[in-house]
Amino acid sequence: MQLFGNTIRVGAGQTQLLGEGMLFQRAVDRAKEKKLEIKTKVNKIRMDYFLLSLLFTFSLSTLTFFLLRRTGTGRKTRLPPGTIGLPFIGETLQLISAYKTENPEPFIDSRVAKYGPVFTTHVFGERTVFSADPETNRFILQNEGRLFESSYPGSISNLVGKHSLLLMRGCLHRRMHSLTMSFANSTIIKDHLLVDIDRLVRLNLESWTGRVLLMEEAKKITFELTLKQLLSIEPCEWTENLRKIYMRVIEGFFCIPIPMFSITYRRAIKARERVAEAFRLVVMQRRRESERGMKKNDMLAALFDSGGDGGGVGFTDDEIVDFLVSLLVAGYDTTSTTMTLAVKFLTDTPLALAQLKEEQDEIRAKKTDSMPLEWEDYKSMRFTQCVINETLRVSNIISGVFRRTMTDIDIKGYRIPKGSKVFTSLRAVHLGQENFKDARVFDPWRWMKSSNPTNFMPFGGGPRRCPGNELARVALSVFLHHLVTRFSWEPAEDDKVVYFPTTRTQKRYPIIVKRRSNAVEQCKEYGMEKSSKV
Ligand code: HEM
Ligand SMILES: *[C@@H]1O[C@H](CO)[C@@H](O)[C@H](O)[C@H]1NC(C)=O
Ligand SMILES: *[C@@H]1O[C@H](CO)[C@@H](O)[C@H](O)[C@H]1NC(C)=O
Repeated sequence: MQLFGNTIRVGAGQTQLLGEGMLFQRAVDRAKEKKLEIKTKVNKIRMDYFLLSLLFTFSLSTLTFFLLRRTGTGRKTRLPPGTIGLPFIGETLQLISAYKTENPEPFIDSRVAKYGPVFTTHVFGERTVFSADPETNRFILQNEGRLFESSYPGSISNLVGKHSLLLMRGCLHRRMHSLTMSFANSTIIKDHLLVDIDRLVRLNLESWTGRVLLMEEAKKITFELTLKQLLSIEPCEWTENLRKIYMRVIEGFFCIPIPMFSITYRRAIKARERVAEAFRLVVMQRRRESERGMKKNDMLAALFDSGGDGGGVGFTDDEIVDFLVSLLVAGYDTTSTTMTLAVKFLTDTPLALAQLKEEQDEIRAKKTDSMPLEWEDYKSMRFTQCVINETLRVSNIISGVFRRTMTDIDIKGYRIPKGSKVFTSLRAVHLGQENFKDARVFDPWRWMKSSNPTNFMPFGGGPRRCPGNELARVALSVFLHHLVTRFSWEPAEDDKVVYFPTTRTQKRYPIIVKRRSNAVEQCKEYGMEKSSKV
């Protein structure tokens, strides 16, 4: 990432949070976190994987394949062009090494240049059709459940739980998706969730002094928000302990290709069981309370209710627990990483930061320091929304989603056979020069000019479009508001955005914060108020 005047050029690697793309990349990430020599570890892991793959290759005697076999030779099927690489491992190694460069889309870029926006490759053990074409992507996402269905490997379903929304299909999926939407839609956020988001963000920022690891703080905030929204649980020792266990579950998502060999994966499965157990106790207790007529206003209450009037029997505790865990999984890394990257991009683009600060100061000036943000305030954050959209466009926390064809599909003059894996790359579209002008530059002002781009799909589309999208936007807006109105900051160290193994900054973005002088008086007041209560 370099600075060019007021704009940033975005560079480097790959990510894929919910699909299989991330696979064993997280193993590499762990090395980073333990501050080990990254390069040697990466190479070692790649080497291990490589040897393992070779082993498979031999034992499966797929050596009858030859290097670089061209695809698209079937009689009736005509696959998009491309190469499927080595036997078994296909182009997986190329994919992984490509994403360790400074370019965010090297693997797809080079293939799009050669074959066009829809091409065939072979990654993570399977022939896969990649789409970097906006129209094809919309077609795939809109036809979810009819022509395509989402597709996760078994190792992922073990982690999210078999009753997770991510794995549901058909009617049940429709019903639960709309239930999730109606728990996090704008009416609910406005009437119920916003006040807690505001309060919990403030509470967290209150303790910031000196050096802050922004990514860690953002994760803590997101976790607390989610537990409050799902289960009405306030931050306490219990939530913080649960978060520590939960972090191990997340690690498990990034070591998928050979889970049975992975200690991290096994640890993640155990950690998941502990998180589920903790949730199960809460669910049991709440069920008893609700039978006695005590109602709370949260996702769990909605789940209890939904079982009752849906005609069918209510959900079992296991179903509810899986469902809750999957919501936590879907919202945690995504929202917190976006928070961190928004701050990073703003820091690197001083003009944008100045404009956002001006907008937020104006909102704050109409209130005393302790007054919470209201829905109208959120709605008036015009430039902030531009910054959020641009952050989502450029960083693409979820780079794309995997699907499987349910029938033979004719697309762009090709025929993709039933049962094929398809990867819908959201990032390739967002960073495609033909879709966005100067696509690889962080430029929030572009949203001032045209704000309804059909090619912009950071939350996916169709029946599986992210039900948490508005919630994520509101959390981001409230976070940015309190951050810029309370603090000024500077980076504590050089840190850069990497796209491998997932989009994030290399060092969790350490910053040095200073309370803004105009906020000092109120903060003192608040501090006294707080300590006198304690
Ligand atoms: C910046 C933050 C977020 C981003 C970029 C994001 C992105 C996405 C994307 C691209 C999908 C589509 C997956 C697919 O088509 O297979 C998705 C699905 C989903 N998201 Fe989000 N999300 C974010 C925040 C959240 C939050 C806060 C929640 C919590 C309520 C959430 C809950 C979900 C769920 C439950 C699904 C699965 C929907 C389904 O399969 O029907 N997300 N998200
Ligand atoms: C949001 O969901 C509630 C039910 O939980 C519903 O009454 C309301 O009309 C929905 N609002 C929008 C904007 O869809
Ligand atoms: C941000 O993107 C969404 C589409 O996801 C669009 O509806 C909205 O108008 C955009 N906001 C701005 C300020 O351009």
